[in-house]
Amino acid sequence: MKRIVILISGRGSNMEAIHRRCAEEGWPAQVVAVIANRPLAGGLTWAAERGMATHLVDHKSFDTRDAFDDALAAAIDAHTPDLVVLAGFMRVLGAAFVRRYAGRLLNIHPSLLPAFTGMHTHRRALEAGCKAVGATVHFVTPELDHGPIVLQSVVPVFPGDDEQALSARVLATEHTIYPLAVRWFVEDKLRVEDGLVRQTDGASQVLM
Ligand code: GRF
Repeated sequence: MKRIVILISGRGSNMEAIHRRCAEEGWPAQVVAVIANRPLAGGLTWAAERGMATHLVDHKSFDTRDAFDDALAAAIDAHTPDLVVLAGFMRVLGAAFVRRYAGRLLNIHPSLLPAFTGMHTHRRALEAGCKAVGATVHFVTPELDHGPIVLQSVVPVFPGDDEQALSARVLATEHTIYPLAVRWFVEDKLRVEDGLVRQTDGASQVLM
């Protein structure tokens, strides 16, 4: 049984999707803990109500980034995870932290990486006149929003779309691709070779 720890900063809809699919589909895995860096992260209550261990590691309580990263790593390691999942976790993590979880740290970013790393992806895609956008699940490496790509979703941009409409359309696909990528990981179906991720069953790594 693989042990999953999920890190969130807010509502945690991706966390919910992963937890639900794990239970419904009987993965050989369990979400053992949810950790937030913000006291108001709504997802913490949701997780606690469903029996998951929850922790708050408030970044505001620490003087330095390293001190926060160390406290976060201690909270994570207490649950001996096989996989750490960043699900809307809005803090940049230091290189030492990322190296500690190398090969077992996943993130989702609401763009077709390597386009639009960082914030305000949907606004920037609209400003650039993109006709398609999407989301990317990737292994985390020290460079922000980079790292071997596991799975991407592609969605169209329609005339008249605003940031909110686009964000909702992309988020709906995140709730499909993130659970699927986590399932592949816990079923040991991902291989990283020369920085590229291969799904060993040959499953499509793009959702259109
Ligand atoms: C998602 O769009 C995710 O891609 C981004 O932050 C948002 C988190 O949403 N990194 P939620 O907290 O999972 O609902």
